[in-house]
Amino acid sequence: MKTVTLNNGVEMPILGFGVFQVPPQECEAAVLNAFEAGYRMIDTAQAYYNEEGVGHALKACGLPRKDVFLVTKVWLTNAGEEKAAKSIDESLEKLQSDYIDLLLIHQPFSDYVGTWRAMEHAVKEGKVRAIGLSNFYPDRFVDMAEYSTIKPAVNQLVANVFSQQWDAQAEMKPYGTRLMAWGPLAQGNPELQDHPLMQRLASKYGKTPQQVALRYLIERDIIAIPKTTHFDRMKQNLDVFDFELTSEEMQSLRALDRPIDFRWSHRNPELVRFLWNYDKNFNPKNQAE
Ligand SMILES: NC(=O)c1ccc[n+]([C@@H]2O[C@H](COP(=O)([O-])OP(=O)(O)OC[C@H]3O[C@@H](n4cnc5c(N)ncnc54)[C@H](OP(=O)(O)O)[C@@H]3O)[C@@H](O)[C@H]2O)c1
Repeated sequence: MKTVTLNNGVEMPILGFGVFQVPPQECEAAVLNAFEAGYRMIDTAQAYYNEEGVGHALKACGLPRKDVFLVTKVWLTNAGEEKAAKSIDESLEKLQSDYIDLLLIHQPFSDYVGTWRAMEHAVKEGKVRAIGLSNFYPDRFVDMAEYSTIKPAVNQLVANVFSQQWDAQAEMKPYGTRLMAWGPLAQGNPELQDHPLMQRLASKYGKTPQQVALRYLIERDIIAIPKTTHFDRMKQNLDVFDFELTSEEMQSLRALDRPIDFRWSHRNPELVRFLWNYDKNFNPKNQAE
């Protein structure tokens, strides 16, 4: 597996396995399958409500802890120095680990500055190896990068052939912050499968459009975390290191970039409200009560 070195010297795999929307009761099995397929980096979050499943898989897999790279994220409702610190301890407990490899602020809202202070403190305490951001668009990203003592190691943004984040990547460069792609397969958008350019490149290399999409990110040095619950697709999504796109092909793929749909923009007040109410509406604990 190709790895990248973060701005604090920590090494991480360039491809990992994301578990957003993997139901808590299915998460352990999915992560065990992912380990079997060859993944060594798992991306979860407090707001996926499946950190326990990841922790169970980590215990059951038999892999040495140092061979697995664990990523999790602090949710909005845990924002602020004190609450975030407590939530980091809760995540560690759920993940059944003494440390988190990479911890991110999930959303650029609420008291994320206080959250960052708690995260910097967790690094000093040895509970976290690297810290970063998620969904911080260039203005807020620069604000945090300037504020922070420890510069963000990554910024996780939606990034795929239709949403390429060139400007965001350029803003991160001076801080040594790497782009980490969520939604690298355009979240299952059938356009990715059906697009004539994706089809043509897939057939040229004997790959699938999804593999071409992942290769495009890797060639841009972007860390990616595709999600699937199918074992064959887990293996397929890892099998992207035996071909290279030409510079002309990279250019033609660049032309697929388009502005983000405002409905999903972090500048859309409706989305911000949705995220503020996310825990209330989606935390299985709240559903049970
Ligand atoms: N930071 C954030 O705010 C944020 C937001 C969203 C996601 N994430 C992270 O990013 C990860 C990935 O993003 P995502 O899950 O939203 O989207 P994604 O990985 O781009 O796409 C997942 C979709 O693609 C399908 N798929 C996967 N592999 C495939 C293949 N080889 N061929 C055809 N279809 C395939 C999956 O279906 P099946 O499962 O049925 O195979 C699923 O519907 C998440 O799991 C999570 O860890 C972070």
